[in-house]
Amino acid sequence: MADERRNFAWMDLLWLAFLGGLAVLQPIREPHKQLVLLGIGLFQIFETRVLKPIKPSRRGPYSVLIKILLATLLVAHTGDIESSYYPIYYLPVVSAAMLFGVWGTLLWTALASAAYCSFLIPALKEFQLTAGGSTELVIRNLFFFLAAIVVNRFVTENRRQALRYQNLAETLAETNRRLEQAQADARRSERLAALGQLSAGLAHEIRNPLAVIKGSAETLTRTLGASNALAAELAGYISSEVNKLNALVSRFLDFARPLDLDLRSQELPALIDEALKSVRDRFPGDRVEVEREYAPDLPKAPVDAALCEQVFTNLTQNAYEAMAGDGKLRIKVAAANANGRRGVEIDFQDTGPGVTEGLGEQIFNPFFTTKKDGVGLGLSIVSKIVDQHHGWIRVSSEPGKGACFRVFLPVE
Ligand SMILES: Nc1ncnc2c1ncn2[C@@H]1O[C@H](COP(=O)(O)OP(=O)(O)OP(=O)(O)O)[C@@H](O)[C@H]1O
Ligand SMILES: [Mg+2]
Repeated sequence: MADERRNFAWMDLLWLAFLGGLAVLQPIREPHKQLVLLGIGLFQIFETRVLKPIKPSRRGPYSVLIKILLATLLVAHTGDIESSYYPIYYLPVVSAAMLFGVWGTLLWTALASAAYCSFLIPALKEFQLTAGGSTELVIRNLFFFLAAIVVNRFVTENRRQALRYQNLAETLAETNRRLEQAQADARRSERLAALGQLSAGLAHEIRNPLAVIKGSAETLTRTLGASNALAAELAGYISSEVNKLNALVSRFLDFARPLDLDLRSQELPALIDEALKSVRDRFPGDRVEVEREYAPDLPKAPVDAALCEQVFTNLTQNAYEAMAGDGKLRIKVAAANANGRRGVEIDFQDTGPGVTEGLGEQIFNPFFTTKKDGVGLGLSIVSKIVDQHHGWIRVSSEPGKGACFRVFLPVE
């Protein structure tokens, strides 16, 4: 910024030096000429400040008009039509060429040219226009137009280039943003895959001892029977807790086990409706309003129906749980294009409290939960299934405004 300012000061100095050059040339003792030169210099330097009170859209025309007036005054005080200072009209002409389009430039140049030619009217009263004189006048005017067009073309080309670079920069920024998003998606799926592998082994190992404990507890119940009520009761506890653990391990293995997809062309809205129904049955007392916005002519998607239904069920269930009995769940399905891939985008937008700020990616980790009796497997299973379908899932959430989970499933 400081450099720019210094630059301008230099330009101003140069500008004044050239005008000073004009001032010391004949006619020197013409105070009006000197005043007009000073006016031109000051206007050129302080133009932005002088025109500040005027509406931005009108500044251009005012600037050119003032320059035409100043040029005309200078020519009037230095010999009218015969003035050697007539090239001062290049000033408004070049300014117009820089500010306006082709037609604007031509119009303002014609005006400058007319202002110059207006000196002909008084001159013709005293002299006759010779053939040489009129040729000279036409040449001078034609040069005004020539200069105007050359500058205008140059400026227009420059502007077009600048616009092209700006567009390019915007495209680049957008590509960058998408790349970052894709990297984040890839990181998540790698993380989940590693976690899955590690824990699948563990879960598997837990299952066998659980089966032995359960079998032993049942044998105990059978052999002791009514003879020892306390022991039978305790064996019952063991058995039911083992059942809970078994259910958890099964659910976890669902997440950890490599999925075997049975891909078939499916209508996604039908799967979503199934999921909605099953979740609604699980929360019979809830007053959740469901708004379905399915676009017509949705393409069918090659998906595993059971797994996709699980995705929709988990997301719907999370929404119901977030809204705690009252709210509105909006499900929007539309055809979409993501990074050049055709697919279907499904939004689950709820009116719950939104995802707690700062949790970010964590909510997709297995066993991450903020619920009292949650396990924290829902979203990690969803994420895994969507990954296997080569789609993606992203969450956006504003505190207090609810969360929106967007799933993209490619159709090819
Ligand atoms: N719609 C939502 N609104 C607000 N927070 C959500 C929403 N969905 C998920 N979350 C947050 O993400 C966490 C993880 O969700 P996830 O479905 O993986 O597990 P969970 O629902 O807690 O347990 P479960 O294994 O029973 O699904 C939740 O505990 C909650 O904090
Ligand atoms: Mg859940």
